[in-house]
Amino acid sequence: MIISLLFLLLVWPPPLAVGPILAAGAVDETFVQVIMQPLVSVFENLDFILNYTAMVNAWSGRTGIPVVVLWPEKSIFTTNDLSGMITIMAQQHSKTWDLIGMDNIWPAVFAEPLLHPLDGVMSSASIARHAPSSLDAGTVNDTLYAVPLYSDGGALFYRSDLLTKYGFAQPPTTWDHMELMLSTILAGERTTNPSLTGFITQLSSYEGLTCNVAEWLASANLTMFLNSTSELSITSPAAQATAAGLLSRFRRWIDLGLIPPASLLYRESESSNAFMQGKTVFMRIWSRYATFLRSRGVNFTWGVAPLPGESEDLVGASTFGAALLGINKYTANVTRAALVAEFLSGIESQRMFTTAFGLRPTIPELYQDPDVNRIYDSALLSSTRITNRPASFCNDHYLTVSDVIYSRVNQVLAGFADAQSTIASINIAIADLLGIDHFGSPQNLPWYTLPSIVVETIVAVLVAIILVLAVLLVHHRDAASARRVPTEFLVGVLVGSMLGALAPLTYVGTPTLLMCEMRVILLGFGFTITASCMAAQDFRVYLIVSSPLRRVASDVNRILWQSLIAAWVLEGALVGLWLGLDPLVPVDVKVDHTWRYTNCASKSYAFQVAMLTAQTFLCCCLIGICIWLAVRNRGVSPKANTSGEAMSLASYLIAVGAGGTLIILCVTNPGPLPQMLVMATAVAFVVLSVLWAYLVMQLRGSHTVEDSSWMGTTIHASSSVLSAGLDSSTGDLSGLHGVAVAHMSEAHILVVRMPPQGLILSLRKIASVSSCCPGTFSFTATFAAGLLEVYTRSEADLKEWHERLAHAAAASNPTATASPNLLGQQNGTPAAARGGVPATDLLANTTLSMQVATAFEQPPTCVRSLSD
Ligand SMILES: *[C@@H]1O[C@H](CO)[C@@H](O)[C@H](O)[C@H]1NC(C)=O
Ligand SMILES: *[C@@H]1O[C@H](CO)[C@@H](O)[C@H](O)[C@H]1NC(C)=O
Ligand SMILES: *[C@@H]1O[C@H](CO)[C@@H](O)[C@H](O)[C@H]1NC(C)=O
Ligand SMILES: *[C@@H]1O[C@H](CO)[C@@H](O)[C@H](O)[C@H]1NC(C)=O
Ligand SMILES: *[C@@H]1O[C@H](CO)[C@@H](O)[C@H](O)[C@H]1NC(C)=O
Ligand SMILES: *[C@@H]1O[C@H](CO)[C@@H](O)[C@H](O)[C@H]1NC(C)=O
Repeated sequence: MIISLLFLLLVWPPPLAVGPILAAGAVDETFVQVIMQPLVSVFENLDFILNYTAMVNAWSGRTGIPVVVLWPEKSIFTTNDLSGMITIMAQQHSKTWDLIGMDNIWPAVFAEPLLHPLDGVMSSASIARHAPSSLDAGTVNDTLYAVPLYSDGGALFYRSDLLTKYGFAQPPTTWDHMELMLSTILAGERTTNPSLTGFITQLSSYEGLTCNVAEWLASANLTMFLNSTSELSITSPAAQATAAGLLSRFRRWIDLGLIPPASLLYRESESSNAFMQGKTVFMRIWSRYATFLRSRGVNFTWGVAPLPGESEDLVGASTFGAALLGINKYTANVTRAALVAEFLSGIESQRMFTTAFGLRPTIPELYQDPDVNRIYDSALLSSTRITNRPASFCNDHYLTVSDVIYSRVNQVLAGFADAQSTIASINIAIADLLGIDHFGSPQNLPWYTLPSIVVETIVAVLVAIILVLAVLLVHHRDAASARRVPTEFLVGVLVGSMLGALAPLTYVGTPTLLMCEMRVILLGFGFTITASCMAAQDFRVYLIVSSPLRRVASDVNRILWQSLIAAWVLEGALVGLWLGLDPLVPVDVKVDHTWRYTNCASKSYAFQVAMLTAQTFLCCCLIGICIWLAVRNRGVSPKANTSGEAMSLASYLIAVGAGGTLIILCVTNPGPLPQMLVMATAVAFVVLSVLWAYLVMQLRGSHTVEDSSWMGTTIHASSSVLSAGLDSSTGDLSGLHGVAVAHMSEAHILVVRMPPQGLILSLRKIASVSSCCPGTFSFTATFAAGLLEVYTRSEADLKEWHERLAHAAAASNPTATASPNLLGQQNGTPAAARGGVPATDLLANTTLSMQVATAFEQPPTCVRSLSD
């Protein structure tokens, strides 16, 4: 009696807000104090409250544990007020209420701050008596925090009078079946009852629509977006198609008029009103509305059935709505609170909720209970498949998740959004909200997929071409070296091309650390070596042309090698810096919120771009040098190398273009497929054009005097011997006319070597060259002294040169080294050199051997006298 009085004090006057309710529950450790989830109007349900209190008091009498149950007045204390109150309790570590009733979407939010785990506190039997899926809502991270007090679930209400009228004995078990019934009944009824509609449910943009969606998905054996391990459940294309199909079905029903468009604004009250007025054949609503309808009375017969499924065995999906009871973890005596929880979630209490309000029991034992069966068919209860909303898997994000679901589905049903893309977008929104990694495994293309095979083939072809060219190069070594290009540089181009050609392979498959590093090394060194060897060839020409007198072949080669090695060391330093400081490592790239692939990237994007820019800059410099040298050297051999020049220029441009492409690729991350294909294409383009311009052109065809004579390297062609007067008596250079030998109008430069001194003379505009013995490298050359003067650098150079020649001649056999003497004469050097020997004889004994672009390969093998 005292307890009842206390209860009345607590609820009378009804609490107005959170504060009073918290104050009302003054901490009295004598009583176990329970606050219920707002369910009833205290005034209208006094009868029930008194009965419930009596039941609780009876239990208190048996156990000696006094209990106070507070029923907040539903009309002034909402579920939101309760959750606000629980939040405050958690912050204050309040023990005002030992047991807290809450909606089944709250445990995930309140478990951590306020609720006590129930396993080991409540008896396992008292937990196990509940249907397993009814415990899911109270289970967070595999720990049970709340047990059901009562539950509810969606069910199909139907006009049995209309079904019978059209020969349908049973309510539908599948959506297809239901569609058939609707078409039949509406077709027949609408002539007399035009306002009759087919199916009404809660499609407004609110939590009720989420409950519907959960049932629709369950009716196709799909889990409501999130499964119990908080992973997205509708991810496979098949599942997404099924889910989209369900939404499309209800959209179609709206189109067909089977669902009234107004239903897009309906909640529970609008739905039940429409059904009570006989305006619809079917209605989906919470099953407790059966009690409500019975209390109101309608002038047609109706029934309640499980909701249909996509197939017959998927019938009975029913969204779980429930009040759960949790124990405040700050309670004074958990054992005592748990005993009360066991009782309140037990058979007696649940039966009372069912008989009073039509709320469903969660204890299967009660499915056969006569009192319960007066309200619910035991078949309906046991055929129900409890369908949970994903509240307990969302931490405290459920309300937002639900908002995402109902607002977007509402758009689909209204015809404003596409079902398929909405399912995908809901997934993405939920994943973003909960931080779920929903991108699947990296979508890099494994080596056996078609694009990869294409790329591998391209690489294989390039490698094969390079190998073939290498073999050809070995075979035609002499021919190649006879050109302006020394073999080493051609090998360099081959090696560089080979490295570059392998680079696309690092884009195949999911990159590993090694692959990422190889990307830097192959691309960096490949292009630098190629470009530097390309540049070296023109650089060599430049060196010789720009300073004819100064350069000896070995000198030229030394400068070339120094430049090349400088470029390679620079590249090596860049690569080392990159790999050493912040190397490319495999990273996840997420695309369009939908999929991911693994790409290579440095931790610092700025550093990556800087290194890429530095490498590109180096390459561009080399290519720029190539272009400049090609332009600079273009006059060197107007006839012989025009096509080669054009090709080189073209390939430089291609290389620049391809370089740009590569940079764009590396910086913009377009995804693995374009990246791989563009990289392979660009590399193939560059490698092939470089190989064509620098190898094929060099190795191809027989070389003639004309195509090679520009540097005089291989002048072994037959030359008609002409004689010309050589006036050696004058001491005047301009008076010196060489002995015209060969028609070498194309020869601009001749570098002659005069053994044994090894001096090399570089001359422009050779007047004549005579061949010695066919097939050798020995020549006799004469030249116009006037031209010599024109093209040498300075008077001082010339003098020094003359002196050295004369000196050498004086020290050696005068007859074997005629030319120095001859020249010496012109320079006015000692008469000893001149003495008595006819100039023609001197000239006749001169042996000149050619060498320009290549090292001197063969010593002169014979001497030919011009005077013969
Ligand atoms: C309360 O109990 C009385 C007597 O047992 C019963 O007649 C009445 O229907 C009950 N009321 C409710 C709402 O359960
Ligand atoms: C459940 O796990 C999540 C993530 O691990 C955590 O944030 C949350 O606090 C946990 N909840 C409870 C009640 O333990
Ligand atoms: C529903 O899916 C589960 C597995 O996800 C499967 O075991 C079960 O057989 C399916 N049920 C039906 C009726 O298809
Ligand atoms: C949840 O879904 C993921 C992927 O969809 C699956 O790997 C996992 O096993 C599922 N967990 C459960 C408990 O069904
Ligand atoms: C049943 O009641 C509705 C309103 O509640 C009324 O419009 C309808 O005419 C009634 N039907 C019959 C057969 O009385
Ligand atoms: C807690 O309650 C139980 C059951 O009523 C009782 O046996 C126990 O002594 C209580 N413990 C404390 C510390 O009051």
